[in-house]
Amino acid sequence: MIFVASPSFSKNEILRKEVLKYFPDASFNDKGQIFNTETLSAKLSGVKGLICGLDKVNANLLDNCPEIEIVSKYGVGLDNIDVDECERRNIKIGWTPGTNKLGVAELAVSFMLDLCRNVHFTSSKLKNGTWLKNGGVQLSGKTVGIIGMGNIGKELVRLLKPFNCKILVNDIIDQAEYYTENSLTECTKNEIYKNSDIVTLHVPHNDLTDNMINTSTLSIMKETAFLINTARGSIVNEKDLKEALNNGIINGCALDVYQDEPPSDMELLKMENLICTPHIGGNSFEAILSMGMSAIEHMKRHFKV
Ligand SMILES: NC(=O)c1ccc[n+]([C@@H]2O[C@H](COP(=O)([O-])OP(=O)(O)OC[C@H]3O[C@@H](n4cnc5c(N)ncnc54)[C@H](O)[C@@H]3O)[C@@H](O)[C@H]2O)c1
Repeated sequence: MIFVASPSFSKNEILRKEVLKYFPDASFNDKGQIFNTETLSAKLSGVKGLICGLDKVNANLLDNCPEIEIVSKYGVGLDNIDVDECERRNIKIGWTPGTNKLGVAELAVSFMLDLCRNVHFTSSKLKNGTWLKNGGVQLSGKTVGIIGMGNIGKELVRLLKPFNCKILVNDIIDQAEYYTENSLTECTKNEIYKNSDIVTLHVPHNDLTDNMINTSTLSIMKETAFLINTARGSIVNEKDLKEALNNGIINGCALDVYQDEPPSDMELLKMENLICTPHIGGNSFEAILSMGMSAIEHMKRHFKV
């Protein structure tokens, strides 16, 4: 039996039909529940294949659900899955990198344009009756710093081409040839913080990137700079970010991801110089289909149907 834990997968009629075609006894998260270990375990009795989104797949869950043979990731970040525990128990992980790279890269570009041109800021002023003519700056020609040059980072470089931005990049792996071919300047993280008009994060969340953006890194950034996080919430210290936005340490920020989801710090969410979206980077119609079909494909291959 298959259980689909992701609410957006479960809501999608095309994906549901495809799952049921191959796994007629599959069940779905029809109530849009956000699971913890206990509530997810309760759904997994007799389940051999789990399609998960951001749900935590940890040792406790696997202890509670010994029949699971495969965990198929709907999405790309594996930070919610304890990969070592799965390997130790011989549980297969179904995962295809890059399935939502265009959706996330497009959102990052839309954040850049919005932040630069004051789109959401002047729009919300006008809705409240204030005619504030402040059209900000243009994105074209600005210096964009990209931290994490994997699938999404590279897609972003492709989308930014017509804007003729100067692009500074940082990654832990050597990609010198690709950087030269695309006129990218490899930098340290501190050089990126110091010299970029926009810093955008595209790294996984792990021990190295946890809390990477904090008071000390924010204070290196230009007062006019914008920060964009579409990667993972815990890469940015939200308390330090709030202070930086409050005190003009940086100019503005766009967040798609949060330390806790959904986030509860209304003081942060209501800040005028913050754009906040509910983790929608990989949630475009096209990305949902691509992530969903690939998760189903892993199930089909594993169960040989
Ligand atoms: N907002 C969303 O809906 C959404 C959707 C998809 C992915 N994401 C997140 O976006 C991030 C990037 O996804 P991706 O598909 O491009 O992943 P990817 O694995 O293709 O690329 C990540 C890159 O980061 C680099 N990296 C790792 N640690 C680093 C460090 N300490 N410093 C610099 N570079 C480092 C890796 O070498 C790799 O090149 C992930 O955190 C992922 O979870 C968010």
